[in-house]
Amino acid sequence: MCGIVGAVAERDVTQILLEGLRRLEYRGYDSAGLAVIDEHQTIQRSRVKGKVQELADTFSENPFRGRVGIAHTRWATHGEPNVKNAHPHICRDIVALVHNGIIENQETLKKELISKGLEFYSDTDTEVIVNSVYLALQEKDDLLDAVFKVCEQISGSYALGIMSKIDPDRLIAVRKGSPLVIGVGVGEYFIASDVFALLPVTQQFIFLEEGDIADINRDQLIIYDAKRNKVERSINISRLNADVADKSGYRHYMLKEIFSQPVAISDTLEKRLNNKLIANNIFGEQSDEIFTKIKSVKIVACGTSYHSGLIAAYWLEEIAGIQCHVEIASEFRYRNSVISDNTLFVCISQSGETADTLAALSLAKQEGFLSTLAICNVAESSMTREADLVFLTKAGHEVGVASTKAFTTQLVALYLLVISIAKQHGLSKADEAKMVEDLQSLPGRVNHMLQYEDEIKTLAADFADKHHALFLGRGSMLPVAMEGALKLKEISYIHAESYAAGELKHGPLALVDKDMPVIAVAPNNHLLEKLKSNLQEVRARGGRLYVFADRHSNLNNSDGLEAVQMEADYDHTAPILYTIPLQLLAYHVAVIKGADIDQPRNLAKSVTVE
Ligand code: AGP
Repeated sequence: MCGIVGAVAERDVTQILLEGLRRLEYRGYDSAGLAVIDEHQTIQRSRVKGKVQELADTFSENPFRGRVGIAHTRWATHGEPNVKNAHPHICRDIVALVHNGIIENQETLKKELISKGLEFYSDTDTEVIVNSVYLALQEKDDLLDAVFKVCEQISGSYALGIMSKIDPDRLIAVRKGSPLVIGVGVGEYFIASDVFALLPVTQQFIFLEEGDIADINRDQLIIYDAKRNKVERSINISRLNADVADKSGYRHYMLKEIFSQPVAISDTLEKRLNNKLIANNIFGEQSDEIFTKIKSVKIVACGTSYHSGLIAAYWLEEIAGIQCHVEIASEFRYRNSVISDNTLFVCISQSGETADTLAALSLAKQEGFLSTLAICNVAESSMTREADLVFLTKAGHEVGVASTKAFTTQLVALYLLVISIAKQHGLSKADEAKMVEDLQSLPGRVNHMLQYEDEIKTLAADFADKHHALFLGRGSMLPVAMEGALKLKEISYIHAESYAAGELKHGPLALVDKDMPVIAVAPNNHLLEKLKSNLQEVRARGGRLYVFADRHSNLNNSDGLEAVQMEADYDHTAPILYTIPLQLLAYHVAVIKGADIDQPRNLAKSVTVE
């Protein structure tokens, strides 16, 4: 995780670095720092525990200037968040370095370096790199050669920005296993963990490839590939907008993002429908042709994106009659899975940079899948560059760590995928038209669900003093319950579990008492009566129920049962609708608890380390 920014320019780069860090703060926010080489060719550094604003405040009290610099916002992996562990790390005032990733052989390297007299001041794995570069410099006398050498010694994942006072106009950038882009300016170059960080200074980007090392001066950029051959990498013009997302009057980004779901959904549908049917090849060139061959689908993702995949599996088997397996990326990548013929691999990711999902995609590309498809919210991400087929959700920049609009737009994308596949496997035009109609009415229906906010806010007060909560659902509502539980624990720090309601009596019922609120999603479908029986089991044990129900579900407020009766007629898109009240519930519980909603403790928006 962590975010890296760096710059080599004719002008002072400190404000560019700070702005870059602000824009990367979603990647980690437990400490931050920046360093430059100043006019006296001395390395100057400022570091804080806490957020980028605290770094900006500290820096403004003791400012310095420099035309070459590196900066970092941290999400701790090795060593607790504090100043000594914050990057940049420096060795003997000669080399400074920022790192995103994990060095796996750091223990062995550290012992060797200590035996050679090098000092360690932090608990990070990063310090072995900066010390190793320093040591290699004693031998090689050239920063690039020293970095080449060190990259052969370290193993793990790393994006690096490195500078040294022995060569004060130079910045070396390394990409291996963690993302890094180069921004191309006029007589200046920048590096960053993503494009968004650099949009205020350039629209032109070079995406480094795996194993690349870039040697950057103000007027020259040379890139070496993993075999250390000089290579040309093309310049891409970004179409992203530099505007920093603002809260548009909402108290938190998360609330703004919850309320922007109707727009995000209609943007995601735009140009994907044609004459009340699904447009052709919306998943990429010849995707419809590929879909005719599909016998099964494998979906791989993490967290919220995994939950969207679970819902898609219900749809795919029910609507298209195609077998579907869904797996957590960190599991998939380390086991020998059996891949049957003509299986489509689908990875889902908001960021397109999640390390486990990215590794799963790379593995899938070697494993004989029919094709690979990435469903992603970031156009210029590693995943969209790597997959054979790509579908971009159009949720817009999601700032809140707790994913909301990315989830519902993923579901829209997945529903479009299921219909597109089903079309190639005998779905009638009439059924397709009905599903498209449901999709087209979705923005309006989601908007309607948002109107229950006040009612949900009132319920949220009951949760503020609770330590545990249980979420129940059946069928495609089970992943909705899982997502509701994840949202609540992420931002309000209440321990929340989710269960298939039918599983209750097989164990979790033992937990139920008056202090364990039980939340259920109850659309008016074929499972409603079964669910009602499960809810009776809770009430009979003194459990307090909070049910989000269709107004026709006949679930009314009574002793021990609070029902939010919603206008939410059932069709396949119901999981999207029923997600909304659970997002609002988690949000309002967190507000009452005074939690840091957009940047919850211990988490980062984009998990770019294992
Ligand atoms: C969701 O609220 C989470 N913050 C998290 O589970 C997230 O969905 C997960 O890390 C996957 O991220 P991705 O979609 O960017 O791959």
